[in-house]
Amino acid sequence: MKTFKQAMLLLLAGTATMGISTAYAAEQPATKPVIDQNQINNDKFKDMKFDIDAKSVRNDLYAEKYPLQYQSWLSTKKSEKIGDALAEDPRLVVLWGGYLFSVEYNHPRGHYYAITDVRNILRTGAPKDETTGPQPAACWTCKSPDVARLITEKGEDGYFGVKWAKWGNEIVNPIGCADCHDTNSKEFAEGKPALRIARPHVLRALDKVDWNFERSDQTDKRAAVCANCHVEYFFAGDKKTVTFPWQNGMSVEQMEKYYDDLQFKDWVHSLSKAPMLKAQHPDFEIWTMGMHGKNGVTCVDCHMAKTQAADGRVFTDHNIGNPFDNFQNTCANCHDQSKEKLQGIVNSRKERVTQMLIKLEDQLVHAHFEAKAAWDAGATEDEMKEVLQDIRHAQWRWDYTSASHGAYVHAPEVALNVLGSGLDKAADARRKLAVILTKHNVAQPVAIPDISTKEKAQAAIGIDMEKHKREKEEFLKTVVPQWDKEAKEKGLLPADAK
Ligand code: HEC
Ligand code: HEC
Ligand code: HEC
Ligand code: HEC
Repeated sequence: MKTFKQAMLLLLAGTATMGISTAYAAEQPATKPVIDQNQINNDKFKDMKFDIDAKSVRNDLYAEKYPLQYQSWLSTKKSEKIGDALAEDPRLVVLWGGYLFSVEYNHPRGHYYAITDVRNILRTGAPKDETTGPQPAACWTCKSPDVARLITEKGEDGYFGVKWAKWGNEIVNPIGCADCHDTNSKEFAEGKPALRIARPHVLRALDKVDWNFERSDQTDKRAAVCANCHVEYFFAGDKKTVTFPWQNGMSVEQMEKYYDDLQFKDWVHSLSKAPMLKAQHPDFEIWTMGMHGKNGVTCVDCHMAKTQAADGRVFTDHNIGNPFDNFQNTCANCHDQSKEKLQGIVNSRKERVTQMLIKLEDQLVHAHFEAKAAWDAGATEDEMKEVLQDIRHAQWRWDYTSASHGAYVHAPEVALNVLGSGLDKAADARRKLAVILTKHNVAQPVAIPDISTKEKAQAAIGIDMEKHKREKEEFLKTVVPQWDKEAKEKGLLPADAK
């Protein structure tokens, strides 16, 4: 665990590096970002190789030797429900205007479905061949042990520098044994965990926050394997390399400063024209700041409890899901309170965080439409500059909390603080907008279209859902079966896989 002192040192170290880059930037034209995205991943972790091959990525091949772990891993299949987040809360459609998240966004489900879901989601589009489609290869990165295999074979630039569809016939096994274990090692053969991280960009990022994997104790390693994927990241430079924005630290402000220095944006909002950031899922980051993270209680203690099998053997339950479903082996291991009592606490925190999230969403929806009205009335770039930055920062704070699954359990007070500061930023934006709107004679309040359902919200911002769905259907019928066929021929999938 990082102590407070270590964290401060890290913070200072981060500031020092930034100081150097700022000095460098002073000699550059004012528009040049402080950091060059194409350089940030050139370090000792570049192109690391891992002991992984076409056999070790196949989860089914571990069933015989490790039936308890395999069967419990396979149980993640039971978490099959797809929760449509846009239908539950159509405001999200507006917040992501101009970005594919407004087309489809679902809650996470079992690890077993990682490949199925990334193929099915409308955001990955309908590529016709390996050079078409909206997304880069980076979108496979947290779905499969095949990713570690490809990075080992092709190097980071070779793996990342292509379109998503290029690896359709190569990345076919969902998150599995070889993602978290050195499965070809002697220790693993002896039944020990031999935990490993097989992604250079993850080892690189952990090293930056003093969480170097090799030097970590077993507790820190346990949490780190989840940081393979349950983190905030962005696609850097021409190769679109997955990169964690941890140079300054993991708090909402530290990552924001990094993105601002980089002048990075995920997209330009279709209504407000703000340069937006899309938070991914900073579950690991938020957990480090919460009560359990600070006390060395890891993801694994709650989501992968040690459990007794029918024959008395104790093993790690690999059915990663809701810890309350396995209460005796999770919370009750450390707490005396009843399940009802603890679940009550968690639920009331969830309610408070959700209320704040919705308040901030409402403010942001207004801000996006008000900014659009200001542009339509002839507001200038100069007038709008600060407003757009406020909108960017406010929505980043909302998304950091919202996209961090389970933030209400992992660090509720952090979630509430971040949302509070997001509300301040949104209020700043709207105060400035009111002045601009008045100056340009726009009647206020600015009207908001009917966004009471997902369909209405999508129509309001001009999404052609039928087209997205039609093309995806065709892709799933024609391209995907071909991918699976080729993967079977390569031995990456069992011959009888459906
Ligand atoms: C998301 C990461 C993850 C995945 C995927 C995963 N494991 Fe594990 N595994 C762990 C963790 C964490 C432990 C416990 C480590 C500890 O106790 O320090 C563990 C422990 C083990 C152990 C040691 C004995 C035990 O039960 O504690 C074996 C064997 C094992 N896993 C096999 C597998 C097999 C086989 C698969 C694939 C079907 C698999 N694991 C998939 C994370 C993972
Ligand atoms: C290789 C990437 C990867 C690793 C490693 C990983 N996850 Fe995940 N996790 C995902 C993805 C992707 C999903 C969403 C899958 C979907 O919805 O199709 C997910 C979903 C989940 C869910 C939701 C499950 C449900 O049924 O709703 C939980 C909880 C979770 N992960 C916890 C963990 C924990 C704890 C660890 C570490 C022990 C871990 N994950 C390691 C990528 C990963
Ligand atoms: C103290 C126990 C605890 C720890 C430690 C913990 N979690 Fe959780 N986590 C939970 C609980 C409880 C839930 C929410 C279940 C609910 O909503 O009822 C949850 C929810 C989640 C979800 C959302 C699942 C979904 O379907 O929406 C993810 C993902 C997740 N945790 C990942 C992690 C990761 C990654 C870590 C470590 C970095 C971690 N958790 C640490 C207890 C814990
Ligand atoms: C490995 C031990 C361990 C496990 C497992 C664990 N906790 Fe904790 N929990 C702790 C420790 C340590 C603290 C901090 C103790 C303190 O300072 O009072 C804590 C504190 C708490 C608190 C009070 C602090 C706060 O956030 O306000 C709550 C509530 C809580 N845990 C809920 C849960 C729930 C729910 C689960 C299961 C999903 C769980 N814990 C699992 C060890 C654990």
